[in-house]
Amino acid sequence: MSAPAYKIIDHTYDTVVVGAGGSGLRATMGSAEAGLTTACITKVFPTRSHTVAAQGGIAASLSNMGPDSWQWHMYDTVKGSDWLGDNDAMEYLAREAPAAIYELEHYGVPFSRTEDGRIYQRPFGGHMTEYGDGPPVQRTCAAADRTGHAILHTLYGQSVRNNAQFFIEYFALDLIMGADGSCQGVMAWKLDDGTLHRFRAKLVVLATGGYGRAYFSATSAHTCTGDGNGMVARAGLPLQDMEFVQFHPTGIYGAGCLITEGARGEGGYLVNSEGERFMERYAPNAKDLASRDVVSRCMTIEIREGRGVGKNKDHIFLHLDHLDPKVLHERLPGISESAKIFAGVDLTREPIPVLPTVHYNMGGIPANYHGEVLNPTADNPDRIVPGLMAAGEAACASVHGANRLGSNSLTDLVVFGRAAALRAAKVVDKGSKVPGIVASEDERILGRFDRLRHANGGSPTAVVREKMQRIMQEDAAVFRTSETLKSGVERMGALWGELGDIKVTDRSMIWNSDLVETLELENLMACASTTVVSAEARHESRGAHAHEDFPNRDDIEWRKHTLSWIDTDTGAVSLGYRPVHVDPLTPESEGGISLKKIAPKARVY
Ligand code: FUM
Repeated sequence: MSAPAYKIIDHTYDTVVVGAGGSGLRATMGSAEAGLTTACITKVFPTRSHTVAAQGGIAASLSNMGPDSWQWHMYDTVKGSDWLGDNDAMEYLAREAPAAIYELEHYGVPFSRTEDGRIYQRPFGGHMTEYGDGPPVQRTCAAADRTGHAILHTLYGQSVRNNAQFFIEYFALDLIMGADGSCQGVMAWKLDDGTLHRFRAKLVVLATGGYGRAYFSATSAHTCTGDGNGMVARAGLPLQDMEFVQFHPTGIYGAGCLITEGARGEGGYLVNSEGERFMERYAPNAKDLASRDVVSRCMTIEIREGRGVGKNKDHIFLHLDHLDPKVLHERLPGISESAKIFAGVDLTREPIPVLPTVHYNMGGIPANYHGEVLNPTADNPDRIVPGLMAAGEAACASVHGANRLGSNSLTDLVVFGRAAALRAAKVVDKGSKVPGIVASEDERILGRFDRLRHANGGSPTAVVREKMQRIMQEDAAVFRTSETLKSGVERMGALWGELGDIKVTDRSMIWNSDLVETLELENLMACASTTVVSAEARHESRGAHAHEDFPNRDDIEWRKHTLSWIDTDTGAVSLGYRPVHVDPLTPESEGGISLKKIAPKARVY
């Protein structure tokens, strides 16, 4: 078979970054700053990437509002992860976070300020003092409730300033892999003129974000379709820990839009139909600021037991009406507006109706804390894929394990985006030649593209997508059982058949949104199938994976990462496992956290 006849425009770079959210821009900027020729390919204009929607803030132990330390931050992250995160990566995140914030400040991020001019920090769920024994800490640095917006705009400006080249509204189709298993570039489709582009590179960094849109109700943008995960899966590489999907406690009921956890950080609280602040019962110390998986489960229990609010008793109220309107105006202007627009609520007078809503994927492309993508074998669980890196929500470093703490995501983006750039500067030889291309890769990639472009089956993309979203919402939700998960595996398996019968009506090459959505659907389906199969196999409860038939965490059998491979022809998923990295980077004798301190124990807030 030869490749379908499309004209291809060639480009060569030292580094090609796919995605222009927080991690993509930080990696782009850093790679360009290191003197590497750097391209950033993005399907939306950079400042429209989903990082723009991040509200509440970015965690770092600056100690601006009271005592804090990177060791406390690391401990909270380990506990938040329910002991599934890799300790080397979690130490790296907590230790590097303060420097990353000062760097952002110097680049121009307009952080909110304290009276004496320091960066303002607010409390967030699961961030505590004294290794979890003390009260909540104010660790989350904020630019009002538009922190992601401020960071994204600043990093875009800095990337342009460092002469990175942007390829905007280019849709990345697939990785170009070498015969030796290395990554040699990426093929992309330019949406506004229909041309195809082959980017040959010494290093590709995937920073494509999460796949929240595999679910029916998500805080994620419609662009969050797991494109990097899909490309990795089609290259025959595994995904990791896909069963761990985070539900944010406060999505607006009905609309799904985010109401930041910063609202509870500023003093907001949840109540049930009896007017009870029920979190005091479940988490006597942290209360409404327990970690997200815990709060989402408690809300779901209240609703299930008949104490939900509203006509159908199917949601919960978030109260902010007791707070000083000045605080709401200064610290939470964005959600004041969202509550008005999407719930018709004036939050100075009324509570906001909220419901746990899909928000974040802890799983993704397995990577180490330098950002290098892993293709583990039984002999070498840390084997690296040459030429390929991943950062941000697309990656699984694994810095969030089974549950991410709120405001650790923006930290992850900038710390690991920067780590990827530092590694790029080390491993890329500026003087070397860009690798050649294996011709069969053109056939594989363009063959798929052409097949989908001319697909003329009986299942429109939107119909298959909605079926997938409903299966995931029903069968892989906050609480899971063997029955729901088995049903999810069977239904997703059957739905895969409909991908072979997909119908695309627009055959054009220019602004073909029908084809874009179909390519995105294939990426989402790979994510959804690996999620539900990995979840069905994990016979324990840990972090965001709450399995009612196996309600306890089982560290003997299950303190390990799930690896999932999908055969994208048939939809069949196979699983493997790799060990958690238990050793932190810094020994206790040099100021690091002791192994005893971070050993697994009961997780109470
Ligand atoms: O609630 C929020 O502002 C979300 C933050 C996060 O997901 O880190």
